[in-house]
Amino acid sequence: MSSYKSFAVVGAGTLGSYIIDELLKQKLARRVDKIVVLTRSFESKGALEAKGAETIAVNYESPSSMEAALQGIDVVISTVGPQALGMQVPLAAAAKVAGVKLFVLSEFGSGTVTRTDGLFGMKLALRQQLEQIGMPWAVFYNGPFADWLFYQPYLGFDLANGKANIGGRGDSVVSFTSRTDIARYVAYVTTNLAPEKLHNRVFLIEGERTTFNAALATYEKRTGRKLDITHTSLEEVKECAKNPADFAAFLTLLFETDGTYGTEEEMNVDWPDFKPESVVDAILSYKA
Ligand SMILES: NC(=O)c1ccc[n+]([C@@H]2O[C@H](COP(=O)([O-])OP(=O)(O)OC[C@H]3O[C@@H](n4cnc5c(N)ncnc54)[C@H](OP(=O)(O)O)[C@@H]3O)[C@@H](O)[C@H]2O)c1
Repeated sequence: MSSYKSFAVVGAGTLGSYIIDELLKQKLARRVDKIVVLTRSFESKGALEAKGAETIAVNYESPSSMEAALQGIDVVISTVGPQALGMQVPLAAAAKVAGVKLFVLSEFGSGTVTRTDGLFGMKLALRQQLEQIGMPWAVFYNGPFADWLFYQPYLGFDLANGKANIGGRGDSVVSFTSRTDIARYVAYVTTNLAPEKLHNRVFLIEGERTTFNAALATYEKRTGRKLDITHTSLEEVKECAKNPADFAAFLTLLFETDGTYGTEEEMNVDWPDFKPESVVDAILSYKA
């Protein structure tokens, strides 16, 4: 059993809100003592506090503001979006001063073991910077959010309107995980594993390993709904991905060429009873 009992979640956004909900369940079960949510504004304060999480407004440019917010916290779970990754370094420095024991860096994507270019290189550099500060880190790879991706028109998927555009042939294998399962896994390992099994670790989570073609075919069969499926050629996706500002093309190419991050045997190893949901169950559970 981990000795970690108090958690700070940074940001209550697309993923963070799921992690907060899961930690609140752990609090009800008395496996967690305290959860604070760090935010730049108090917009969602009422709803979060009604659920049992304390909300603290933080100025991420002020070390003293961050240090004060993190007093008594064991684990920081950062869920900031890709545009805000750099602020995790000063936050981790403040966390170190406040006595935090573990900092979960915001990755939650399709990290690969081999790639060190672009965004991958930046994320690796963040781990090194935390090591220089003396702050143990953990990261989670989970692939695309299975319950979310298929409702993102900017990524080609608009199942709400029965449409899907697949980059490439759609028969490459991809690891998908729903946000609920990512949150369950993060909460499980941080409250159950011994600290030495958490520090400076890359955790590999996988809900289901399948292809886009197979996932959409299963969806059609389950729902009896015929989708309007189109394809963008891999060449065109590669061309678009040369533009560093085209994040959608970067992700589409990643799914097609680097959709997994290890063998099936290497997934979910720290929680044998994990039992994640399938991609189609996740798609059908989507909450906007
Ligand atoms: N695998 C996938 O399919 C997938 C999909 C989406 C995201 N992700 C990854 O999941 C992680 C979380 O992403 P997300 O989409 O959940 O994040 P998000 O909703 O865009 O942002 C999360 C929170 O970060 C906080 N924040 C703090 N400083 C910020 C700043 N300078 N600028 C903007 N926001 C700031 C905001 O909270 P306050 O406003 O309350 O401060 C915001 O609600 C990221 O690492 C992302 O790459 C993966």
